[in-house]
Amino acid sequence: MYSDKVMDHFEHPRNVGEIDNASGSGTVGNAKCGDIMKMDIKVENGVIVDAKFKTFGCCAAVATSSMATEMIKGKTIEEALALTNKQVMDELGGLPPVKIHCSVLAEESIRAALEDYQKKHA
Ligand code: FES
Repeated sequence: MYSDKVMDHFEHPRNVGEIDNASGSGTVGNAKCGDIMKMDIKVENGVIVDAKFKTFGCCAAVATSSMATEMIKGKTIEEALALTNKQVMDELGGLPPVKIHCSVLAEESIRAALEDYQKKHA
């Protein structure tokens, strides 16, 4: 059902936790399944130097948030805003159709953290 990469990121999630004095934070949830995702980012000179997440959710939610944090590190705000759930899924080798909404949660949590950063640094 899940690719090896999804299982790897679920069993060994990267960047779990919180960032003290995060530059931006965002928490999103899915009303249907009840899963929640919190994303913290650290930005220096317009570049995301660190990203950490906490996910109370399913295997696909954990794997996509783990992969998403890896993908936005080293990116500018504009580049990270352009990251889509499809790119995260592709990088994971795909997800079953019923699990696509989990990757949307990862995209939304990153966007929420980036918007929080932009609000604070407007
Ligand atoms: Fe809800 Fe995966 S089942 S995020």
